Amino acid sequence: MLLYQTLEKQLKKEPNFVTDNGELKKWVVIYKAQNYDAELIGLLLDDKELKAKFFLNIKGVLVFNQSLLIQFLEQKNYLNDSYTAYKNKVGLNIDGKYLKQRNEVTLVWPFKDCVLEGGQSNEEDKREEIFFNETLAQDEITQLLEPKVLTNAKRFNDKGEKTLVKFNRNSEGRITDNLIIKGNNLLTLHTLKDEFANQIKLIYIDPPYNTGNDSFKYNDTFNRSTWLTFMRNRLVAAKELLTNDGLICIQCDDNENAYLKILLDEIFENGFLNNVAVKMSEASGVKMNHAKSRFPKLKEYILIYKMPAFKGFVAVDKYEQKEWDSENNIFLENLTKEEREQLIELEAKEVNDDQDVISANKILKKVKKISLSKKLKEIEIENEDEINNWLFENSYRIIKTAGSSSLATLVKSLDSIPTQDIASAVSKKGILFFYITDFNRETKQPRFQVIFADSNIYKNPCDFWQDIKTTGAISDEGNVKLSNGKKPEKILYRLIKMATHASDIVLDYHLGSGTTAAVAHKMKRQYIGAEQLDYGENDSVIRLKNVINGDSTGCSSYEDINWTGGGEFVYFELKKFNQHFIERIESAKDKKTVLGIWEEMKLKSFLNYNVDLQKQEEHIEEFKALSLAEQKEHLIELLDKNQLYVNLSSLNDKDFAVSAEEKKATQDFYQIKK
Ligand SMILES: C[S@@+](CC[C@H](N)C(=O)[O-])C[C@H]1O[C@@H](n2cnc3c(N)ncnc32)[C@H](O)[C@@H]1O
Repeated sequence: MLLYQTLEKQLKKEPNFVTDNGELKKWVVIYKAQNYDAELIGLLLDDKELKAKFFLNIKGVLVFNQSLLIQFLEQKNYLNDSYTAYKNKVGLNIDGKYLKQRNEVTLVWPFKDCVLEGGQSNEEDKREEIFFNETLAQDEITQLLEPKVLTNAKRFNDKGEKTLVKFNRNSEGRITDNLIIKGNNLLTLHTLKDEFANQIKLIYIDPPYNTGNDSFKYNDTFNRSTWLTFMRNRLVAAKELLTNDGLICIQCDDNENAYLKILLDEIFENGFLNNVAVKMSEASGVKMNHAKSRFPKLKEYILIYKMPAFKGFVAVDKYEQKEWDSENNIFLENLTKEEREQLIELEAKEVNDDQDVISANKILKKVKKISLSKKLKEIEIENEDEINNWLFENSYRIIKTAGSSSLATLVKSLDSIPTQDIASAVSKKGILFFYITDFNRETKQPRFQVIFADSNIYKNPCDFWQDIKTTGAISDEGNVKLSNGKKPEKILYRLIKMATHASDIVLDYHLGSGTTAAVAHKMKRQYIGAEQLDYGENDSVIRLKNVINGDSTGCSSYEDINWTGGGEFVYFELKKFNQHFIERIESAKDKKTVLGIWEEMKLKSFLNYNVDLQKQEEHIEEFKALSLAEQKEHLIELLDKNQLYVNLSSLNDKDFAVSAEEKKATQDFYQIKK
């Protein structure tokens, strides 16, 4: 076999490298080669000939000859579909190479290669953050991102709260408890890595929008850079938690939508699915006073990205459409809602087989057909509103038939045509159809593909969500308040419904007042919520306690939820160390308190290695003369930022005084044998 044939055959083993027509996606392979993609290199190594050709052996170590593979793929005789010098692609080009291919066009910003801890813990704080450079400050970053010790772990259920005894786990050993975690969200994501890598099906976040007035108050000079660094650090960590078929949805507004899209394109390569516009306010109130200067802002965005093996939405949330055409419909007298769901599920399965036909036919066999107009006469309701209500309520058992020539061919090819009124069959492509059997092999224009009314009397929201109410009752949802940025439960209901099955896990690491967790709880999905800001009486824990006690707001009354209470969750915090001092310094109201904290810091905190305690004491009078703000700044500067939280590796270190209870919860979480 020629080398290029061997290469093509080997690369085609990876479905992502093959087009729907079965051709090799050479440009994808080239892009992967440029990025030293592990899957691609693995495939090459699996073949003896390719291993010999595209790797150099240097002192027993194989080094990938990237440029040779790229050159080889770009050769004219290999690119047999490249009959013009301008490859089959539109794009900007320098010296014959596309900019994207040259890896020369990316979004860059100051501090992109840095890690920003982002330790704000209440909305009023404003702090200048340290940027740790990824290359130069490797040790600091490793320490910063090391998993943390847990504290204050409690289990909440309808009997109240109790100190956590043990996490619940499934047969694979993975935690099955819902988790609410208090602590810096970057460090939380890294703390979750061991337990939940590749386990989360859906991430929704509603981060600070960087409006200039919101709670993102780190750095005025490099505001956008700070925000992008903050987002990137967290998104890169969050991606590791997603399953290979997972989704991430990020809500934002005009301030950062364009920059965020480019950042996401870089992190979730080829993952872009939608940029949904969501109507988030009404054309009323103060904003209309400024209508002359610019169009008032009513919408926000939800950027949706998928992981490579994403297979499509589980279900699509629908909302009512008012017009109703009841002509030519058939009423399926004795079909139940559950049976209709089973039929649709069978129909939606990607690969259908004889067993699916047997299962579908079993349901269809018992179905009794009657024309809808006859049924309406039978039930004797005449008022138009009542008829409409009845039609909506019964739409799951109303069908229409439509012509389908492909189905005609399929049915004609069956050995025997099933005799019941409605039957099902599988096409060659593996699609399950339902059809009406008042049909014979001679019928020229058969009309028999079944269309269920409830799939058609509702609108698909598509990528423009204007049907969700964002005013009025939203502020009371969950019985907690969040003046700025609380999201309607309906948004989360829609996302969780469309992206997850009952066994999937949902994560929100900007939990705020807990909307995501509350909806996931009511929808019986496992969830993890993380929050670092202190929301006091409007905390997500308070909201979830309300949910357990039968909260009736938000999506509780939805037909498929019908929430009456129950369930449980586990709460814990990441154990703070120097962070604790920082928070106390920041909230100190007078110099006396600051001085008291300094006395304690001398005994208990970790100071930077170059701080000379004796010198600090010698200059204490000068310190006292500083303004309150200057004193605070000075003390925070003295603290070692590597010791903000207690690292797992310090669990048994006496200096950090980890209690027996904290040790127990931490060891159980990380499954550390004592
Ligand atoms: C608008 S709230 C999210 C509200 C939430 N979706 C809800 O419905 O309640 C924004 C989130 O970003 C987080 N956040 C804001 N500023 C932050 C900062 N400087 N550092 C870390 N997180 C921040 C807040 O803690 C909050 O979780």
